[in-house]
Amino acid sequence: MSFPTHRPRRLRQTPALRRMVAETRLHPAELILPAFVREGLTEPQPIQAMPGVVQHSMDTLRRAAAEAAELGLGGIMLFGVPEERDAEGSACLDPHGILNAGIRAVREEVGDSLVVMSDVCLDEFTDHGHCGVLDAQGRVDNDATLEIYGQMAVAQAEAGAHVLGPSGMMDGQVAVIRQALDAAGRQDVSVLAYAAKYASAFYGPFREAVDSQLQGDRRTYQMDAANRREALLEVELDLEEGADMVMVKPAMSYLDILADVSAMSPVPVAAYQISGEYSMIEAAAANGWIDRKASILESVLGIRRAGANLVLTYWAPEIARWIKE
Ligand code: PBG
Repeated sequence: MSFPTHRPRRLRQTPALRRMVAETRLHPAELILPAFVREGLTEPQPIQAMPGVVQHSMDTLRRAAAEAAELGLGGIMLFGVPEERDAEGSACLDPHGILNAGIRAVREEVGDSLVVMSDVCLDEFTDHGHCGVLDAQGRVDNDATLEIYGQMAVAQAEAGAHVLGPSGMMDGQVAVIRQALDAAGRQDVSVLAYAAKYASAFYGPFREAVDSQLQGDRRTYQMDAANRREALLEVELDLEEGADMVMVKPAMSYLDILADVSAMSPVPVAAYQISGEYSMIEAAAANGWIDRKASILESVLGIRRAGANLVLTYWAPEIARWIKE
């Protein structure tokens, strides 16, 4: 009998061998925790569709940020849920509005020990739930929205955000935000562009997380799941416009996009493991159908392996604790 020349199994024999040859590792510093803060709450409010995730009060948001810093997470991405909404989403410009107040509180709490990021998008602030303002025909008006994004970005920078995350998929949003920041003397604030953001059914649970008022869908501005090449165009445009980092979103159904972007991007690449990706694993685990911890770690490892330098995930604190164990 002839023996196999190559035996890949050899390097899989012991945990120490497997650990030594692992090509991808998880580290808390590359994990970013998305967090919701809701106006008027005194107690955190559980999000039914995302077991384990809450809408924070200002108080518990501070605590979550302090914990994130202690765990050595890379950053926190803040979303605000306002009490009052209108057609223009005007609460987003109020320096004391919920998101800007949340940014200020978190910065007070963590200083520079955690990267404080915030969502530049109108959907949480508009009464119609779209990511931009509407024209007379009810269509999302790209350029009128850009003007507001520019002002919103400056308000968030003034509140203390280190990094801004424009997630509305308006054409030209990175350029407008960069120019507005620079004109306001905030050359120091970075832009993490949601460059390739797809219209996804997996955003479902997020709608509850931010009490979204959306009727219809976002298919006139978010990308079509059928398209791969177009992601490269979106990333190239955002780089030309001055993006410091680029994002692919969602993550798990878009690992090919992540690999493509990772291969061509000269700047750090982030991936957002979104609400539906979280809830699917939690639901299956709650039913005893999959091993929760192993599934979570495998999902995030896969996203990193596909090429993400940074991963936004609701499990960031828990993963960081597991890594430390
Ligand atoms: C829009 C925004 C969305 C998410 C982050 N930013 C929702 C959407 O585009 O419909 C989704 C995040 C998640 O599902 O976890 N501001």
